[in-house]
Amino acid sequence: MSKILVTNATIVTMNKNRDIFKGDILIEDNKIARIAKNIEAKADKVIDARDKVVIPGLIQTHIHLTQTLFRGQADDMELLEWLRKKVWPLEAAHTAESNRISAELGIAELIKGGTTSIIDMGTVNHTEEIFKAVYKSGFRAIMGKCMMDYESNGKNALMEDTQKSILESVKLLKKWHMKDNGRIQYAFAPRFVISCSEKLLLETKRLSKEYDVMIHTHASENQSEIRIVQEDRGMRNIVYLDKLGLTGENLILAHCIWLDEEEMKIIANTGTKVAHCPNSNLKLASGIAKIPELLAMNANISLAADGAPCNNNLDMFSEMRTAALIQKGRLLDPTVMPAEKVFELATIGGAKAMRMEDKLGSIEEGKLADIVVIDLNSVHCIPTDEENTISKLVYSARATDVETTIINGKIVMEKRELTTLNESEIRNEANRIIKKQVDKAMRYKL
Ligand code: GUN
Ligand code: FE
Repeated sequence: MSKILVTNATIVTMNKNRDIFKGDILIEDNKIARIAKNIEAKADKVIDARDKVVIPGLIQTHIHLTQTLFRGQADDMELLEWLRKKVWPLEAAHTAESNRISAELGIAELIKGGTTSIIDMGTVNHTEEIFKAVYKSGFRAIMGKCMMDYESNGKNALMEDTQKSILESVKLLKKWHMKDNGRIQYAFAPRFVISCSEKLLLETKRLSKEYDVMIHTHASENQSEIRIVQEDRGMRNIVYLDKLGLTGENLILAHCIWLDEEEMKIIANTGTKVAHCPNSNLKLASGIAKIPELLAMNANISLAADGAPCNNNLDMFSEMRTAALIQKGRLLDPTVMPAEKVFELATIGGAKAMRMEDKLGSIEEGKLADIVVIDLNSVHCIPTDEENTISKLVYSARATDVETTIINGKIVMEKRELTTLNESEIRNEANRIIKKQVDKAMRYKL
């Protein structure tokens, strides 16, 4: 049995009482075995966390690892033009190798910023490379192949055959779902209504029930998108998903900005999950989701960065800060989205979204050992008085303050050095391959 002892930490537990105290954490294999003021135990590894803060691993519930390589390639555009002219041709140009490099680059950035779990959208081709990168890196993910068998415009660079999309998805599910004791789980990933036929959506629903896996899609992010859904399917987007029977606790919807009152009720009443991506929503000028209103209706909200070309970082600290600030500005009310609530969305909210709240999201005995050591002794976080730790984490801390990241009881970054991925190799490969990918993508433009 492998044992890691973290000592003298300020532990932000996120347990029911939201206890924060100085103490030790004993990790045995992939679980948190004990938490106490002082633990006397022999361990294979001791991490001295004196003057450091230990938090539950951050959970981002909507990521496109496949797009990390395209950072900076598609700035200052609105969603549909951004997708059709840039992102889809770039994804279509992926080879197995470039997709692997993109995924590894994204996972490296996420681990270095204290994110330990994601829900990922995959891409249409070569998604297995993303599974392999997640597996090799020790990262935790719920993910699947992106499905796109329809285009209201007629054609796009990524369109695929319905049956092929379904068969490939099921093949990946059978190979990867519950791999490494559930560290990797499958989710069906129909991209969004306007790129999916009704047949595909219905089949996805049936299969997700058959295999008890989640469905991950984008919904009501952009005004043009919901207009196309209305013209094409004759009703509002969320009403349509509800009518097809997709809504429920197994469905996670990224964005949910353009909802009417009825749609907000559908989401809250069915237990459908929302992945809020504030920086992406601002950069693509999509709008601002009504998160405080959805929270007041008891909707399950979590946070995420979306993808590198619409953000342009995968930094949960930045998402937390923006999630708080935009609502205060929108509602002219500084009391909405307080730091404690935002930090809850980044931890417990994400665990609930993953259907893993009994295993993740807080530092408690018996839970999986996904924990992050942060050094708040940087000038932008000082003074480090203990009472204001959550304020520091949400409003002041940065990804670079993360010192050590542990996932499933394994140290994947120690003192900012990645242990499962070769950072310098990833940097070199990404820089080497990007020009070739962009040139190739130009040929996929439709
Ligand atoms: N909607 C459909 N595909 C995408 C995507 O790749 N990114 C974002 N932000 N929205 C989408
Ligand atoms: Fe997205």
